[in-house]
Amino acid sequence: MYINFWYPIVLGKDLPADKPVRATVFGLPFVAFRDSEGKASVIADTCVHRGGALSKGWVKDGNVVCPYHGWAYGGDGKCTKVPSLGDQKIPARAKVDAYPTEEKYGVVFAFLGDLPESERPPLWDIKEWGPDWKCQTYVLDLNAYYERSVENGLDPIHNEFVHPLQGAPKMDIELQRSPLPMQDMPFGSGFYMSFASKKPGTELWEDRQGARTGAAGSWYLGPNTLVTYIDLTATNSFHQYIFECPVDESHTKLFFLNMRNWLMEDKHDARVEDLTLRVVHEDMAILTELNPVRTPETNTKEILVPGDSAVLRYREHLQEWQDKGWRIDQKALKAKQGDVAFAIPCPARRESGNWVLDPVPLIPGKAAGAASVTEIKRA
Ligand code: FES
Ligand SMILES: [Fe+2]
Repeated sequence: MYINFWYPIVLGKDLPADKPVRATVFGLPFVAFRDSEGKASVIADTCVHRGGALSKGWVKDGNVVCPYHGWAYGGDGKCTKVPSLGDQKIPARAKVDAYPTEEKYGVVFAFLGDLPESERPPLWDIKEWGPDWKCQTYVLDLNAYYERSVENGLDPIHNEFVHPLQGAPKMDIELQRSPLPMQDMPFGSGFYMSFASKKPGTELWEDRQGARTGAAGSWYLGPNTLVTYIDLTATNSFHQYIFECPVDESHTKLFFLNMRNWLMEDKHDARVEDLTLRVVHEDMAILTELNPVRTPETNTKEILVPGDSAVLRYREHLQEWQDKGWRIDQKALKAKQGDVAFAIPCPARRESGNWVLDPVPLIPGKAAGAASVTEIKRA
């Protein structure tokens, strides 16, 4: 699991003006609440007085109030009131991590990390959002690790076995034998291709990219955003967005937006929902049984084939983000959890010190520009 990406926290409609909501991400507690203007805030759910859970308290004047002794915190994570001190000065260390938030597409997202704004990976821009597309949104609990779920979405060769209800769409065997036409983008990659055979002498990607007919594609952005296009014809498409929240090492919350630009009337909603969720549950039934639960540390512990080329690219990106020092050290975290209150470091930690909560342990990255041992030897 990686810091420095955008994570879905709660649906906007499930975050009322007067009540805080807890979210667990990476096995750590966060609290979401609305300030007096209605803007969603997400901060660490650990009161720095004596460890109260802010999410079990209430919202007053746009601050979240700890239920234990009434300390109040603003959306910037700073304590604004300590009732037992009266009008004395609030201790400078009375602050918790507060995260940048965006409420978009009906979802409250938080940037869980400390990167300054100019360096942050983006949130996926859903271009279809608007009146020409219809969106049905679901929050689904999956008893599996989020990376396994993202990999499933990047895998075009499972459909014929897992999805009989979809008509078991089979990828042409020639296509299965060649690597997928991956196209990288900042912090992600993906492919878009015809359902059917490659025409001799044509380049599939160029051939199909503009036409968008009888084709499908999948992309990932960061470790936890998965996008699938199913373009049945030039005008009839399903575009699906799954923002995955890694609750812990074996549980995931999927914020699933199923968008379509046909069958727009409400009368089709139930049928589209039924088919979509049946397909999702077919995937979930496979994912909950995978062994090991989490992706193995090396690819030699599985046998990858050309149809897994998107999975492979995803794993390479995960390694890059680990090399940047963004991967949480789960073993070190678990060894101390219960004895130490941890938080994901927020951007304000780069500006000021004096924090009460410990920053989550991270796997050390490779320093930028540092030559590897082999490079040094070659020189
Ligand atoms: S623990 Fe939160 S106010 Fe005391
Ligand atoms: Fe599937």
